Amino acid sequence: MAANSDEPDRWPVETLRATGIWRSFDGVQALEGVTLELARHEVVGLIGPNGAGKSTLVNIITGFDVPDRGNIFLGEDDITGWSPHRLGRSGLARTFQATHSFQGLTVRENIEVSALGSGAKPVAAARTADRLLEMLDLTDSQSQPAGILPHGHERKLGVARALATNPSFVLMDEPAAGLHEGEVIEFASVIRDVRDEHGAGVLLIDHNIGLILDVSQRIEVLDQGRTIAAGLPDEIRGNDAVATAYLGTTHTEADDD
Ligand SMILES: Nc1ncnc2c1ncn2[C@@H]1O[C@H](COP(=O)(O)OP(=O)(O)O)[C@@H](O)[C@H]1O
Ligand SMILES: [Mg+2]
Repeated sequence: MAANSDEPDRWPVETLRATGIWRSFDGVQALEGVTLELARHEVVGLIGPNGAGKSTLVNIITGFDVPDRGNIFLGEDDITGWSPHRLGRSGLARTFQATHSFQGLTVRENIEVSALGSGAKPVAAARTADRLLEMLDLTDSQSQPAGILPHGHERKLGVARALATNPSFVLMDEPAAGLHEGEVIEFASVIRDVRDEHGAGVLLIDHNIGLILDVSQRIEVLDQGRTIAAGLPDEIRGNDAVATAYLGTTHTEADDD
């Protein structure tokens, strides 16, 4: 327990690993033996068409769902089946595709509640809120209820709430969906800060391939519950199987060079 310190308990864990994950829903095989590793200080992009199993994988890794088979490891510890709350206190955080903020609380309160929930004391939670409001350029909106925020601010609040738990690993499920181009560029720099200044490992799901290619060190591609490709951004860009599954064509602009 973190009774005597400002920050929640942490131990130095360098990797998060999902191995051989299977999950089916009423006959739909959502994941078929997917393995994925995320280290601190890196951004891994996770892409694939709708229904590929991306959100299911994130739900399983963060304790919102349980795999039929397979295991999740945080460092050496098998964390399969741990509750989201326990995982949150162990350094895992996520954002959601849909809004998950408390609509009646202010932006600042939402961030503080998140920090408090991960075990921070009130003084530390307030400091965390100051830092994240600044980092995400939300300071001017801090007193507004979350329920009236414009979409771009709402997405950033989701990220702030995830970071407020001081995570070692952050899993972001389409955090940039619906953002304008300028907001996406701003968002890319936030993700780099999370990696470089905070030292977290980031798993980034997004349909904006430009954003994924821009910020990821490695990219994993899911299709129909299986990993169909994994590699460096340049390798993924030129991969025929990816073009077929994801872009619906084998002929890309890159072929014209
Ligand atoms: N709770 C659920 N109940 C039934 N089917 C689900 C559930 N969650 C996901 N699925 C199914 O699993 C597959 C993968 O879904 P999902 O992980 O949401 O894909 P993605 O995030 O890549 O779009 C889809 O066929 C989806 O309909
Ligand atoms: Mg999804």
